[in-house]
Amino acid sequence: MPLSLRKIACIGAGYVGGPTMAVIADRCPDIDVTVLDLNAERIAAWNSEDLPVYEPGLAEVVSRARGRNLRFVGQAEGAAYVAAADAVFISVNTPTKTEGEGAGKASDLRYVESCARFIAAHATGHTIVIEKSTMPVRAADCVKSILATARPGVTFDILSNPEFLAEGTAIRDLEQPDRVLIGGERPESIAALAEIYRRWVPAERILSTGLWSAELSKLVANAFLAQRVSSINSISALCEVTGADVEEVAAVVGADSRIGPKFLRASVGFGGSCFQKDLLSLIYISESYGLTEVAAYWQQVVDLNQWQKRRFADLIAAPIADGAGSLRGRRIAILGFAFKKDTNDVRETPAMDVCRRLLARGATLAVHDYRVTPESVRSELGAQGVEVAATPEAALAGADGVAVLTEWSAYATLDWARLAGMLKAGAVIHDGRNILDAGAVRRAGLILRSIGRGAQPNA
Ligand code: UDX
Ligand code: UDX
Repeated sequence: MPLSLRKIACIGAGYVGGPTMAVIADRCPDIDVTVLDLNAERIAAWNSEDLPVYEPGLAEVVSRARGRNLRFVGQAEGAAYVAAADAVFISVNTPTKTEGEGAGKASDLRYVESCARFIAAHATGHTIVIEKSTMPVRAADCVKSILATARPGVTFDILSNPEFLAEGTAIRDLEQPDRVLIGGERPESIAALAEIYRRWVPAERILSTGLWSAELSKLVANAFLAQRVSSINSISALCEVTGADVEEVAAVVGADSRIGPKFLRASVGFGGSCFQKDLLSLIYISESYGLTEVAAYWQQVVDLNQWQKRRFADLIAAPIADGAGSLRGRRIAILGFAFKKDTNDVRETPAMDVCRRLLARGATLAVHDYRVTPESVRSELGAQGVEVAATPEAALAGADGVAVLTEWSAYATLDWARLAGMLKAGAVIHDGRNILDAGAVRRAGLILRSIGRGAQPNA
């Protein structure tokens, strides 16, 4: 008889686990979905009106399913749901290791391992364990060996079902994915999970592969995306010195259907919880198989990104630093702190590196963001020299320089004619996302420097 998944559980109620399970519950009212997390505060937030993750459309999805076939519970209470589940997703974080073998590169699997132990201790009958977290290739071997310690008679099968959602568009990406990837060894387990996604995803978009290909594909997809950003950012520097315009170059290059137009926006650098971590994991895996040239190739994508952030901070500092290079007494307005728009997430945000570099040179920063909380800004930057502004206007008041670091749509429509008088005379606006209306900024008598754009008429 074909397997049918009627009760599912997910360990990890983060940016991936929470929205993914909410969409599954919304689309499959007959499937009982339980999301567990060790963090009691996070669970309380998922059960409140103030969800712990900001994503457009998420609150509506959660409110339709929560209390019907979707519940959020703490780890202890979750044990019984894991016992009853036909399938358990593992969706905990897999950060870069900070100590031990592979420190600074390899993914830290300790949370995944502790989930596997929890599942081994509580599962009953036959359970499909699904890796949702991004794993190094062959990580399923380690999960399998832990599951093998379960009581006699309790059996498992492992699938890899990595998530490709991007923050800020998570609900759209989950509801209309380019593809769903399911890697595994047994066709009946793959079919059982595919049956869930089939409720709303066309069959041709559900791809199945072997376990190792699925694990590796996720790392490679992120590496290719990050590589495109580093590629265009490398060209942004070349545009600035040659007088070319990176937006024009990207449009021309992207018009080639073999290349395509997406992911060619020059920026202050890529951020987010995945790109750097997954690149480092790929680099570590390549090194550990002795593939030095492969590792060096991908390392360059990371290095270019670090360089772009430093380069941008130095561009901000250049016109206002004193003879000794110090920014003491200089106030810089930072517009945007999230790693991209439409999220409150600051993990690996390029704004952090840019701000730290400016602070190290003595600057005072006035940071504004539409979604990032003041606590979050302070926990990344400390309080020394950092003011969190409630509005863009408050950040801009008295600023010697301005940097746009996140592409929030509202920054694109700021009224520079009105704001210009609030800035110190001669203040330069540095657009790290190329979203400002260059004409409007210039008409207001301000100097604009855009990433990847050569010298401009009034510059
Ligand atoms: C996810 C993926 O799973 C990760 O591998 C991928 O690379 C990025 O996206 P994400 O959902 O963003 O991670 O992580 P996070 O928001 O930190 O959520 C993880 C949650 O798991 C946290 O709420 C944490 O409390 C919880 N957790 C962690 C557990 O419940 N149990 C654990 O043992 C460890
Ligand atoms: C990424 C992948 O897109 C997603 O498929 C995977 O599941 C998780 O990692 P995410 O990190 O949420 O998603 O955001 P993404 O939109 O990919 O942006 C990552 C970073 O690259 C951001 O800092 C963004 O501003 C930057 N970026 C993106 C650019 O600088 N230029 C671009 O053209 C695109």
